[in-house]
Amino acid sequence: MYVRNVEITGIKSESKDIKTFFFNYSFQFAPGQYVMVWIRGVDEIPMSLSYANGITVRKVGDATDALFRMNVGDSLGMRGPFGNGFAITKLPALIVAGGVGAAPLAPLAEMLKGRVSTILGAKTGGELLFRERFESSGPLLIATEDGSAGFKGLTIDLLNRADGYQEIVSCGPEQMMRKVLDHAVEVRVQSQFSLQRYIKCGVGLCGSCCIDPSGLRVCVDGPVFTGKQLNDGEFGRYMRDATGRKVKF
Ligand SMILES: Cc1cc2nc3c(=O)[nH]c(=O)nc-3n(C[C@H](O)[C@H](O)[C@H](O)COP(=O)(O)OP(=O)(O)OC[C@H]3O[C@@H](n4cnc5c(N)ncnc54)[C@H](O)[C@@H]3O)c2cc1C
Ligand code: FES
Repeated sequence: MYVRNVEITGIKSESKDIKTFFFNYSFQFAPGQYVMVWIRGVDEIPMSLSYANGITVRKVGDATDALFRMNVGDSLGMRGPFGNGFAITKLPALIVAGGVGAAPLAPLAEMLKGRVSTILGAKTGGELLFRERFESSGPLLIATEDGSAGFKGLTIDLLNRADGYQEIVSCGPEQMMRKVLDHAVEVRVQSQFSLQRYIKCGVGLCGSCCIDPSGLRVCVDGPVFTGKQLNDGEFGRYMRDATGRKVKF
């Protein structure tokens, strides 16, 4: 619950709008868990741990923009790790990662090395995140929207080329994950998804991250949910914005 001060020890540019920030503390974590990152004077935002001592961030708004202007030696507040993380019960697993959704999945792939294959997607080849980490963990299929690396198209277009897996694990744009869930239902395998919703308290009290119709809280009951938990609800259809209003995907 308490805030830990950490110092930025390294910054790696992954692509034009994604950077990894390393810090001087290693968390004991399960892949899929997140930390609340306090950028002082700006905001506190959830970020998955992409390493025990690192987060990988896409610049999308005020807080992430402020983070991108920070340097080695600057300090951040961190609470966590929070949430449940991935719990793989059937192997081999298939990972489907889109964009910055690869961040929580790369440490999972490393943990499952030799018992996992991955479909990794991005808009362009230059934006593929953690290609080497997935490649060194098992077979890798790549999809890019402009065709600059691998197959020209979307990750979901490659689902039929993967086989031999017992469980699918996915993180990325929600409409992509919805199609992955539909595929998992069709081929009758278990599935798990890491969900993004507005996290405010991070400890299950404020209700801002509840999903319909179950009322499950993404911050403590998730962010990882099974396909079974998500299939009949808001997943891939709508979410709530920071004020609680429904926004369609
Ligand atoms: C459990 C969890 C783990 C996450 N892990 C990562 C990660 O590893 N790397 C990463 O880059 N991002 C991650 N995010 C998303 C990240 O927290 C948001 O992008 C960030 O809070 C945006 O802050 P901002 O002030 O820069 O943008 P804002 O100005 O707050 O928002 C910019 C736009 O981003 C969208 N947005 C912002 N926050 C959310 C949210 N929580 N859910 C859905 N849409 C949102 C909205 O469309 C908004 O218009 C994660 C979110 C959750 C819930
Ligand atoms: S963020 Fe407050 S209950 Fe989940």
